[in-house]
Parts: sequence; C-alpha cells; structure tokens
Amino acid sequence: MAQPVLALRNVSKRFGAVQALTDVDFEAYPGEVVALVGDNGAGKSTLVKVMSGVGPPSDGQVLFEGRPVTINRPQDATHLGIATVYQDLALCDNLDVVANLFLGEESRGGLLRPFGWMDEIAMEKRALDLMRQLSVRMPTVRMPVASLSGGQRQSVAIARSLLGDPKVVILDEPTAALGVAQTAQVLDLIVRLRDRGLAVIMISHNLADVFAVADRVAVLRLGRANGTFHVDEVSEDQVVSAITGAVSGGGRRAGLPSSASLADAAGPSASASGSAPVQGPA
Ligand SMILES: Nc1ncnc2c1ncn2[C@@H]1O[C@H](COP(=O)(O)OP(=O)(O)OP(=O)(O)O)[C@@H](O)[C@H]1O
Ligand SMILES: [Mg+2]
Repeated sequence: MAQPVLALRNVSKRFGAVQALTDVDFEAYPGEVVALVGDNGAGKSTLVKVMSGVGPPSDGQVLFEGRPVTINRPQDATHLGIATVYQDLALCDNLDVVANLFLGEESRGGLLRPFGWMDEIAMEKRALDLMRQLSVRMPTVRMPVASLSGGQRQSVAIARSLLGDPKVVILDEPTAALGVAQTAQVLDLIVRLRDRGLAVIMISHNLADVFAVADRVAVLRLGRANGTFHVDEVSEDQVVSAITGAVSGGGRRAGLPSSASLADAAGPSASASGSAPVQGPA
C-alpha cells in the first residue's frame, strides 16, 4: 500500500498561452478510490488526458509503480495497465453486450481463432463471467446496448476496460446523467473494482457520490492541486471551499491513503497529525 501505482510529479500542461495545469502532484494507490474534483475548467480532463496518453504533459514526471514512464499515446497507457472510461462511453448502440466488450479485441489477438475469426462462444462465456464477477445485472449479454439502462451501459463500458487486466481505471463522470438507482448500481461497481485491488480514479461533479465511494478526494483549482483529503476526515463544505477557493485550510492533507509513510510524503506534518492546512490559492 505504501507505493502509489500511478503518481504525477510537478505536472504542467500548456496549450499555447493557456496554462491548464501547473505543478500538479497526484497519486493513485492500489485498492483505493480517489476522486478528482474541481470546477469547470479546473483542469480535470487535462489531467486525465495526461494519464491516459491523449495529451502528454508539457513538464513534470509520471511514475508507474515507482518507475518514471512516458505516456505519449493511449497505447502506452494501455500497455502499462491504465484504462480510461470516457464520459461518452464509446459504445456501439446497435451491437450487443458481447460484441461491445470485445470490440478491438481482434487487434489484441486474445480470443482469435485461425483465419482471424473471433470465437463467439468463448467471448460470450467470458462476457458472462465478467458480468457475474462484477455483479452487473442484465437480462442477457446478447442484448443490443441501445436497450440497456444508463447504469447498465456504464457497467458495460467499465467491464470492457477491465479486459486488459489494468491496474488503474480512470472513470470520467461515471454517474453523470444517471438516475438514483442506476447511480447506486455504478457506485457499487466502483467499490467492487477497488475490492479487486484496482486503483480507481473517479472524476466527478457530484460530491454525494464522491463521499459515498471515494477514500480520498483530490481538488484541482485553476490548474493547481488545492488539497487532497481523506473523505472521512473532511466535510463536503470543506471540499467545496477548496474547489471554490473560498477558504484556504480547514481540511486535512491526505497524501497517503493510510498512515504509511513515504519518503516523498508531504512532510512530517502530513503524516503525523494530518493537521497541515490545505494550500490556498494566491
Ligand atoms: N486543447 C486545448 N486547447 C486550449 N486550451 C485548452 C485545451 N484543453 C483544455 N484547455 C483549457 O485548459 C483549462 C482546463 O480545461 P479542462 O477541460 O481540463 O477542465 P475540466 O476541469 O475538465 O473542466 P470541466 O469540468 O468543464 O470538464 C481550461 O481553461 C480549458 O479552456
Ligand atoms: Mg472536463
């Protein structure tokens, strides 16, 4: 638990004159859900793109299991074991659940038969296994995804991200546009991912969801890290204050998911009493 599976160090990202991220540190540990929150334009999507290889950083370092890595392309992220579920899910409505799960599998060669045919029976079996393991309920995996609920669609997209056996799963607004029951279903699934030992990074605007499943919450404000908190040591109001910049302080800094100490932890005040104030904006 002591070592983050994925860590960003002093990551900055410029788009021409726009400084989207400035010196951001961020960590994701195995077996935890870390939420990434911040106002519109705070830099959340930009940070996700850094981690998923869609938009490499202008400056700074990315560490995977302690090793410096370069994630210049989405394939680099996939190779390391970083899977991303984007908000639009990128599912094919007219195809069934099995086909959606294995889209692109042709190129991975996982279940290929001679002459390039996909093994339909093996795929269906694997789809059923996966859905069962994740306790995702749906009438049949041979339904077109167009006829699934929003929660089921999100579950299919998450299940698909697991096929490559990733260590980190990044979920962009997984509960946006979902009703109460569907949100509960997806939050349950997120907890199961954590229980499988994955590091789950969840981008969310919904603090109720964040407080329901996240272990830690990292706040971005105007492209800078503005505090990381253990959810059981902070109130929603304190997180809102960090998001808006209304108050600097009032929350505990939580660089680590437990009391474990790391050489590069945020100093003795963070690991000892956890009473160091959140860094406020200038
Ligand atoms: N390709 C780009 N070119 C120029 N500026 C960009 C680009 N992508 C993002 N930005 C800028 O970077 C900043 C951070 O944007 P980002 O999309 O990361 O915010 P966000 O936190 O995801 O916001 P939202 O909650 O609205 O999705 C914004 O000022 C945005 O305008
Ligand atoms: Mg965004």
